[in-house]
Amino acid sequence: MTDFPRFPPSFEWGCATAAFQIEGGALEGGKLPSIWDEFCAQPGRIKDASDGLVACDHFHRFREDVALMADLGFRHYRFSIAWTRVVREDGCANPEGLDFYRRLLDALHEKGITPNATLYHWDLPAHLQHANRGWLGRETAIRFADYAALVARELGDRLQRVATLNEPWCSAFLGHDIGVFAPGLQDRPSALLAAHHLMLAHGLGLQAWRAERSDTQLGIVLNPELCDAFSDAKPDAMAARMAEMERNDVFFNPLFNREWPAEMLEQIGELGVHRPAEDLRICAQPLDFIGLNYYTRSVAQAPQTPAELCRGYRFVSPDAKAVALTDIGWEIHPQGLRRVIEKLQSQWPLPPIWITENGAADNTPVGERGCDDVIRLHYLRTHLEQLADMIASGIDVRGYYVWSLLDNFEWAHGYTQRFGVVHVDYATQKRTPKASARWLQQQILSQPT
Ligand code: FCB
Repeated sequence: MTDFPRFPPSFEWGCATAAFQIEGGALEGGKLPSIWDEFCAQPGRIKDASDGLVACDHFHRFREDVALMADLGFRHYRFSIAWTRVVREDGCANPEGLDFYRRLLDALHEKGITPNATLYHWDLPAHLQHANRGWLGRETAIRFADYAALVARELGDRLQRVATLNEPWCSAFLGHDIGVFAPGLQDRPSALLAAHHLMLAHGLGLQAWRAERSDTQLGIVLNPELCDAFSDAKPDAMAARMAEMERNDVFFNPLFNREWPAEMLEQIGELGVHRPAEDLRICAQPLDFIGLNYYTRSVAQAPQTPAELCRGYRFVSPDAKAVALTDIGWEIHPQGLRRVIEKLQSQWPLPPIWITENGAADNTPVGERGCDDVIRLHYLRTHLEQLADMIASGIDVRGYYVWSLLDNFEWAHGYTQRFGVVHVDYATQKRTPKASARWLQQQILSQPT
């Protein structure tokens, strides 16, 4: 094996999780149901008909999990706060829920691990979906800002870095157009309206946080698309551009006070919704950082079915004979990390970047000699080599969070896809670090400090 590259001494090594995917404790401490609890309860939505009621039971085992992180060498931890745990239906603070996060933050502090919190990782309070049509209602963005202010007041003294949203494309488009995520709608204009309200929530959230505290680094986590055209033919090239516009321009443009591309405005036009002109200015709050999640690239072709025509593109599934895939079927394409960041930097004036998620589904079981997750090992090694090269050539990436610390509830895939560097036996909740965790530990500990 070749030598593992050196990263700058200040480079931050972390692991990432999200509340709904690991916490469980769904009925404890006054926690309210989220749209994901309701989505899981609908037959046929989740591949293994599972839910997040127990998940990794992190709600009860967080001390063990923090000790594990520390043991594996992680000095940074990205997690999300469950809105449903800390805010009651009347908008007041839920002290019991806040106490959970205080205890978690204390445990991290004791182990010298810096927290990096995300306020919204898809688990919208269900009552806001019912009363307000969730992200289709402007009011939800205002309620998000109230929630952000509450967290700033209650937990802000312990949080140095906070992101408003995780991957709003997924909430908007997987949730309202493709329909495979909560709330499970299939209506293209609704997806665009949800995208707008999510970005408005981001802007209002940053304003609200900054009104409470000025010492937090604030940003957002996006999952930009790197989309190649299936062929040189013009319709395929146009399809690839349409996919990138939906995934990138709809979210990056508002951050920098730019209107959506005309193609997107046309799609929302039919809704007849009023998007006040000042919204754009609200979305474009100063950013201290941007988090980018990168897993794979996609390949687009000219649309064929009516739904695809509406979107302007269709995706071509990767061919397992031609390219290497992870167990979830995503192409392993480490060069994409550089390509997508260079492309984004050529389009928008990005602030410093953190890779807030990167990792692989590798479902290798635990045997007597542990878990030899070779796909993940290969994936992490090739992506980190790529990242080291990029940093050496001057791209400003300040840290890397592997997705994920633990195997967990992988949304519509339920527990069928394992992304953890630590294996979780869901029957016993036993944690077993995989070969990839030990390898990462070795690399992190051998870096210059
Ligand atoms: C990302 C999500 C994260 C996890 C990974 C595999 O899109 O942010 O919660 O599901 O994919």
